Amino acid sequence: MAEELITVKNLKVHYPIRSGFFNRITDYVYAVDGVDLHFEEGKTYGLVGESGSGKSTIGKAIIGLEKITDGQIFYKGEEVSKQARKRRSEYRQNVQMIFQDAMSSFNPKRRIIDIMSEPLRNFTNMTAAEEKKRSIELLEIVGLTEDALYKYPHQFSGGQRQRIGVARAVALNPKLVIADEPVSALDLSVQAQVLNFMKQIQDEFNVSYLFISHDLGVVKHMCDEIAIMYRGRFTEYGDSDEIYHNPQHIYTRRLLSAIPQIDPNMREENKRIRQEVETEFHAEGAQFFSPEGRVYDLQSLNDNHKVALNDMSIIQEGGI
Ligand SMILES: Nc1ncnc2c1ncn2[C@@H]1O[C@H](COP(=O)(O)OP(=O)(O)O)[C@@H](O)[C@H]1O
Ligand SMILES: [Mg+2]
Repeated sequence: MAEELITVKNLKVHYPIRSGFFNRITDYVYAVDGVDLHFEEGKTYGLVGESGSGKSTIGKAIIGLEKITDGQIFYKGEEVSKQARKRRSEYRQNVQMIFQDAMSSFNPKRRIIDIMSEPLRNFTNMTAAEEKKRSIELLEIVGLTEDALYKYPHQFSGGQRQRIGVARAVALNPKLVIADEPVSALDLSVQAQVLNFMKQIQDEFNVSYLFISHDLGVVKHMCDEIAIMYRGRFTEYGDSDEIYHNPQHIYTRRLLSAIPQIDPNMREENKRIRQEVETEFHAEGAQFFSPEGRVYDLQSLNDNHKVALNDMSIIQEGGI
């Protein structure tokens, strides 16, 4: 049985919208509106939904970059969402985040050795020589050599930069890495390479990933469990197999039908399915969304699969 790592309960992040002469709060963006997540050690979780659905906000809320409006976050059974800054230090080491262009957040005038050493300097008592040795080890894991240490970020390709970003994120042996669209800006072949390195790192460090993507195709071979997100809520959550082979929510099916079809013989067929799902999405919305357009609460279909339906009697084998 894998050890329980992080539990997120009923997370809400609402952003105030201010307007008018007095700059008063006139409304809220319900970016995240009541989601639950549960992470165990050494597993990969997918968080998938279209742009603007609230994926990044969840990631940022979990690592503490975004203030949470409501809900709780537990690390190894202890609530961290309300802890004082200082006590959160262990949590901060153990939960790291990488972004679409991991290196763009670093000073372009600093060399890789400085960028790699920074987390080590902040959280450990290593000597400069130890920091260097550790940085070389980490770079080697992602297929780079020692001479990378003395170069600047712009001297690397996009794929190499993401690999350095991944190496840096695991420098402190974190338990969870939140990877927010880590390969979305890369060519397909380079994407596969970066994902492979991430997989290798997982085998070596037993790290868990929360892998965020707008494309269900990208996470297909990576994830143990997948959450499908729409307008701040989950439409479906379950084992990867269940999500891909037994999708029950129309929005999940819509995302599945949007996966680009590589086989040219399948393109026409795929286009037809996509149009069918699109028509259904608009025609049968009432079964899947409340009158206000809100995603319903998740209900259990089986031990490994939850779906947000009002009326579970419409469930069908192999998907609705
Ligand atoms: N700082 C912010 N202030 C106000 N609205 C925000 C802020 N950040 C994100 N949003 C809004 O919250 C929603 C979710 O955004 P985000 O989490 O970035 O979505 P995703 O990562 O799925 O594309 C969007 O409608 C976005 O415009
Ligand atoms: Mg995002």
